[in-house]
Amino acid sequence: MRKKIVAGNWKMNLDYNEGLSLFSEVINIIKDEITGTQEAVVCSPFIHLHSLVQLAKGYDKVSVGAQNAHQAESGAYTGEISAKQIKSVGAEYVILGHSERRQYFGETNELLAKKTDTALANGLKPIFCIGETLQEREAETHFDIIKSQLVEGIFHLDEASFGKLVIAYEPVWAIGTGVTATSDQAQEIHAFIRQEIAAKYSPAVADATTILYGGSCNPKNAAELFAQADIDGGLIGGASLKSRDFADIVKVFN
Ligand code: G3H
Repeated sequence: MRKKIVAGNWKMNLDYNEGLSLFSEVINIIKDEITGTQEAVVCSPFIHLHSLVQLAKGYDKVSVGAQNAHQAESGAYTGEISAKQIKSVGAEYVILGHSERRQYFGETNELLAKKTDTALANGLKPIFCIGETLQEREAETHFDIIKSQLVEGIFHLDEASFGKLVIAYEPVWAIGTGVTATSDQAQEIHAFIRQEIAAKYSPAVADATTILYGGSCNPKNAAELFAQADIDGGLIGGASLKSRDFADIVKVFN
């Protein structure tokens, strides 16, 4: 049974104290509600990571992640953070390839392949984001775009390494816009991703891979999205900044 995950991405929001308060509230609401193969992950700015890991101690279904990591192990990269540093504070996950990183920081599939290798080598589990822009969907190239993001970003991995990944499908046109993909649109792409994984690795690997949906997911639409056969949870932006909303999305799996 593959893992169901609801992951929050706080992006560049919340000062230190605001982040700790929000996380404490979330834990208080959800601590007795996460069961079985379900997990809640909060991906915070770097400044919160160490403290959130401390707050999450004792809650084995609540994990902490970063939102980016550098591809190098260490070195003269002023202002950057390494996978090893993230791992050293106890974080388990790292988001890689978010469309905001691709768009504003020029991150390519080739660079993301390196970041994935370094994150895995340091014991982090990447939440690897893929998704098409509105222009690409309108041009009906979205399946090609998603396939190339998979092939160039993560299909170089061996089966054991691939098994540590979580994939997040985030149509760029749905991120922060209030326009969610319909459950049919999302399911169609999730099924396609799983089919590509089956073709590259095996049906068993595809069946074991957690694939999240992200893009204007909220407490109102989460249940319908997560009910789809190939949608295993969500990567939540705006709604992860409100404890009740995030908790309500986590509780969809109960
Ligand atoms: O990583 C999260 C996604 O970018 C979704 O953000 O829920 O604010 O649309 P959103």
